[in-house]
Amino acid sequence: MKETEIRRLIDTAVGQLKFSYVPYSNFRVGAALLTKSGKIYGGCNIENASYTPTNCAERTAFFKAVSEGEREFQAICIVGGKDGVLTGYTPPCGVCRQVMMEFCDPETFQIILAAGKEHYDIFTLRELLPLGFGPGDLL
Ligand code: THU
Repeated sequence: MKETEIRRLIDTAVGQLKFSYVPYSNFRVGAALLTKSGKIYGGCNIENASYTPTNCAERTAFFKAVSEGEREFQAICIVGGKDGVLTGYTPPCGVCRQVMMEFCDPETFQIILAAGKEHYDIFTLRELLPLGFGPGDLL
């Protein structure tokens, strides 16, 4: 993946932080999901007074994209922190990894964890969800 493309994803994910609805945790998360055709879908976390309906930033991005007909994805960038201040990586929760597993090839899908423009690491979905259960296991 090109450096310029990674920077664009980081910028988009950071730009999503202001949309987070986080009255309970004050922990803002932003995501930028890149389709194979080059489109980027942003997402933020959306909390709820009943707690469990809370939607993570990654799933917001996936559900926006899938609900608009997208099914093929290259990468997702995730940023987050208390009050929107990036002090370290925000790795995707288990539920979000499972949603990625539904739509992405675990060997090639790239998960970019960023704590700033120059501070990021890239993992495959396979690295973050070894032996994951996916659509192929039902065949
Ligand atoms: N959160 C995400 O948006 N993505 C993750 O993968 C980790 C957790 C959100 C959910 C909740 O709004 C807040 O972070 C604290 O858990």
